[in-house]
Amino acid sequence: ARPAPTVFVLYGATGDLARRMVLPAFYDLACRGLMPEDWRLVGNGRGDVAHEDFRGHVREVLEEFGPHPDSGPWEDFSQRLLFAGGGFTTDSPGSLLDVLRHAREDMAELGEQAQLVHYLAIPPSAFEETTRALGEHDLADGATVVYEKPFGTSPESFRELDALVHEVLDEEQVFRIDHFLGKEGTQALHVLRFGNALFGNVWGRDSVEQVQVDVPEDLDVADRAGFYDETGALLDMLVTHLLQVTAEVAMEAPASSSAEDLQTAREAVLAAVRPLQPEDVVLGQYEGYTDIDGVPDGSTTDTFVAARVWVDTDRWHGVPFLLRTGKRMAQKAQRVSLVLRRPEAPSLPSLPVQGNVLTVDISGSGALDIGMVLKQPGPDLVLTSSSARLQLCDVAGGDPLPPYVALLHDVLHGDRSLFTSSDGLQAAWSRVEPVLRDRPAVQPYAPGSWGPAAADELAGPGGWLLGGSG
Ligand code: BG6
Repeated sequence: ARPAPTVFVLYGATGDLARRMVLPAFYDLACRGLMPEDWRLVGNGRGDVAHEDFRGHVREVLEEFGPHPDSGPWEDFSQRLLFAGGGFTTDSPGSLLDVLRHAREDMAELGEQAQLVHYLAIPPSAFEETTRALGEHDLADGATVVYEKPFGTSPESFRELDALVHEVLDEEQVFRIDHFLGKEGTQALHVLRFGNALFGNVWGRDSVEQVQVDVPEDLDVADRAGFYDETGALLDMLVTHLLQVTAEVAMEAPASSSAEDLQTAREAVLAAVRPLQPEDVVLGQYEGYTDIDGVPDGSTTDTFVAARVWVDTDRWHGVPFLLRTGKRMAQKAQRVSLVLRRPEAPSLPSLPVQGNVLTVDISGSGALDIGMVLKQPGPDLVLTSSSARLQLCDVAGGDPLPPYVALLHDVLHGDRSLFTSSDGLQAAWSRVEPVLRDRPAVQPYAPGSWGPAAADELAGPGGWLLGGSG
């Protein structure tokens, strides 16, 4: 069914995130016929932009980031775009409050189901002020509020923001984005495991020796050095994406498919993560990072992090989860791998080290790789390894959605399954706190490499599956 009629307010509508992710996701949904039958989008941002000029801006954005405006219902789409700049200080004609009031009146005529969605594509430092304003101007009641990441930039700022958000909103109204949960590959994990005895039966410490959540990146951070230098890999990627993906991998079977039960299952994993200790974490910085414009000399920001994480549940006790990500590494990849214990096999000559690995590639539209030990076809018993790959986009009838499109779709349907929860983030932040307090020294690594050597040691004898000694 189509979502209910919606008035959408996009804060930060002329900003970078809206350009790259949010506006293209809207148009993508429209091209797929997945938008509500009736909707308006009120863009908000700095400065005063005429409705016509905003439409022109969105058109340019789509020409750059796609889908191309002429490939879909641009005429209808653009007529629904409005702009109202500035803050909530006045309700004079053309102000945000005024435009919103009119848009809501129009929507109300469309029926009682009409919904109001606030999308905060603004810097985290502005979350509190906007949230408070929503409460003060009676715009919070019954509305949905979407927060971009990062939801908090430290354990303390998380707690403050969380408390304020709950003064104004019920948790059910809050949608916190972590786009790694919206990736097709990440979503595939659940069905793969719970729907297949072949995988479900090996999912735990009896069969799994270690899990790797590996997200090396080859790009640098030159285009957003200012933001990045205040964040670093641990906060940008680990406390957010890598831990959420870990929760998705390690969860117990949720009681039902409801959003609440799925979130509870992820929360339980995060609560069972042992607080990270400095000796379980390697921080790195690529050589040349401090030469980038906007990065202060002597910056010790981490552009690389590897961590050995322990999930202390019955299922995973003693199995290391190896998490790794970094900028300017040898290769770009996004993979979750279960390295299986090699079977005792007295009838077979020594087993090749490859094989016995199940990998879900969560990049792009996702893929599954099953690494197996096989008999090399031929007269003799020669063992070899090979892998079977299934691209999720080849699954019959499939039409993969980019993560932002999938998440926006769920916002419109009020489905919070793929969003992070207050309790989950609370746990994630508290688990990294010991490392923030007692931060390991940042070790240099060569651009284009696999990070500091210490990260290989952390992985143990088998090493990392990608690069390194594995
Ligand atoms: C973002 C991080 O959340 O995720 C970036 O801020 C990172 O540093 C990006 O590069 C990776 O996600 P994707 O899906 O765009 O490859």
